[in-house]
Amino acid sequence: MGENIKILIDEETVTKKIKELGARISKDYAGKELELICVLKGGVYFLVELSKYITIPVVVDFMVASSYGDKTYSSGKVRISKDLAEDIKGKDVLIVEDIIDSGNTLNYLTRELATREPASLKVATLLDKPQRREFDIKVDYEGFKIPDLFVVGCGLDYAQKYRNLPFIGYIEAQ
Ligand code: IMP
Ligand code: MG
Repeated sequence: MGENIKILIDEETVTKKIKELGARISKDYAGKELELICVLKGGVYFLVELSKYITIPVVVDFMVASSYGDKTYSSGKVRISKDLAEDIKGKDVLIVEDIIDSGNTLNYLTRELATREPASLKVATLLDKPQRREFDIKVDYEGFKIPDLFVVGCGLDYAQKYRNLPFIGYIEAQ
């Protein structure tokens, strides 16, 4: 059965925000080359859109990371099941995420990537659910702060579905 999906942030508003973030990033990193690191799968939709509005040279690389075991309980353990293809030592790196929820994934990834000695390491996320935060994460570029709702679209899934929706929706209880 299909879920009843309501629009939280429409497509036009999402696109406008991504353009603004792209412009800010281009300005902040002017004269540099930027390594965009995407956390699959959800982050890829935002990364592709964002990269279109970045005017400095960018390189993209991908990784797959997920929390172990019980998803409702933050164990703090994150497994990298696909690592980056390239070394990031000495590079300006921007991690591109779809959403920061507990912050568990990003807390682990920023620590892990910092050990590889990039020249700089920052974080961009399309969405932020601050009410659910369990780890202290510094977010450098943020699209929207949202309430504690389960959202889909723009890369975010419900049981692997709805990533392709061009807006941010939430599933209404039936
Ligand atoms: P964190 O480690 O708790 O910050 O979890 C982040 C990950 O949980 C995201 O990258 C998403 O894959 C998933 N997630 C968190 N909230 C949502 C949501 O509302 N919809 C879909 N996926 C979510
Ligand atoms: Mg994710």
